Amino acid sequence: MSTTLRDRLDRPLRDLRISVTDRCNFRCTYCMPAELFGESYTFLPREEILTFEEIERLVGLMVPMGVSKVRITGGEPLLRHGLHELVRDLNAIPGVDDIALTTNASLLGRMAGQLRREGLGRLTISLDSLDSAVFSQMNGDKLSLQRVLDGIEAAEAAGFDAMKINCVVQKGVNDHTLVALARHFKGTGHIVRFIEFMDVGTKNGWQLDQVLSAHEIFGLIDSEMPLEPAPPNYPGEVARRFRYRDGDGEIGIISSVTQPFCGECSRARLTTDGQLVTCLFASGGSDLRAPLRAGASDDELREQIRGIWSGRSDRYSEERTEQLGNQRPERVEMYQIGG
Ligand code: GTP
Ligand code: 5AD
Ligand code: SF4
Ligand code: SF4
Repeated sequence: MSTTLRDRLDRPLRDLRISVTDRCNFRCTYCMPAELFGESYTFLPREEILTFEEIERLVGLMVPMGVSKVRITGGEPLLRHGLHELVRDLNAIPGVDDIALTTNASLLGRMAGQLRREGLGRLTISLDSLDSAVFSQMNGDKLSLQRVLDGIEAAEAAGFDAMKINCVVQKGVNDHTLVALARHFKGTGHIVRFIEFMDVGTKNGWQLDQVLSAHEIFGLIDSEMPLEPAPPNYPGEVARRFRYRDGDGEIGIISSVTQPFCGECSRARLTTDGQLVTCLFASGGSDLRAPLRAGASDDELREQIRGIWSGRSDRYSEERTEQLGNQRPERVEMYQIGG
């Protein structure tokens, strides 16, 4: 028997985002700043990380509760050894209709083909600027812009079309390079999505004055390449869509700060070490790894997951707008839950 779960605000559970590693080969200043994540930083030891079998068991239990979309994230998910096997096995679970992966693209050159063959449906690439100095400044001077562009090319060759290109916008950092990014991908079938810089985690020193609003982002692009609104592809879509008036594609704008979208939020997040987190801005999650490893039955795990979702009332982004400045002191970090 499957009944869709609903939370206290009547929102269904549809979308599960799974972080498969807390490691990353970039040090984006807004996510894992190099001064805090240096050589001596200790990442999770292997035994604390959920195995693929554990992840697959949880997904199998959550599909009858409503999950049909799965997104694999990190850290950088392509650093997880054997990732294509997870993709293959998730793809074999009946009811998982959509498998997507968010990556910085630096390792796609050697992995895109295999991921495609194992059934990965969609790719989302994080790319903040095509100006290599700005790119390096934002990614902590790690791998080169060319490496990312080569990764995108490899993904195209492997058959990934209509990729999404996510760009975190920081005022005074990359805002002067947004139009060039949009122009580069216009007409390619890929969709650039500009994301308002968010106060996720506790380590990026977020300030409201570093946020370029969705309205301002729209204005920058629209004045060079005129846009018109397009309807959402599905209820609760995070990005607001805008089509180029000349018919040459579309962009998205994700306005978590100035126009939050908690009302239709159907996303749960599974951290690398097996916590189920019900909001990007939560202070923590509920541990599923301990019961998994203590031999809990499927019924016991189902009961626990149902309890977590049905008790959920998170709407952090809306609350933030209602009481700006009053931030929660403790929050899960982005590299633990992958956005
Ligand atoms: P599609 O399935 O392709 O529509 O993907 P998506 O837009 O749901 O997911 P994606 O990971 O590409 O989201 C893009 C960015 O939006 C993330 O990196 C986050 O910065 C932000 N985002 C996604 N989900 C949420 C959310 O639930 N709350 C908030 N505040 N931001 C979110
Ligand atoms: N604000 C907005 N987006 C962010 N991301 C990471 N940190 C932030 C932040 N503070 C985005 C990354 C990537 C996805 C995983 O989340 O660029 O696209
Ligand atoms: Fe790595 Fe993505 Fe975080 Fe950048 S935003 S440090 S690429 S996980
Ligand atoms: Fe969902 Fe929390 Fe994001 Fe609101 S802030 S959309 S509740 S994850």
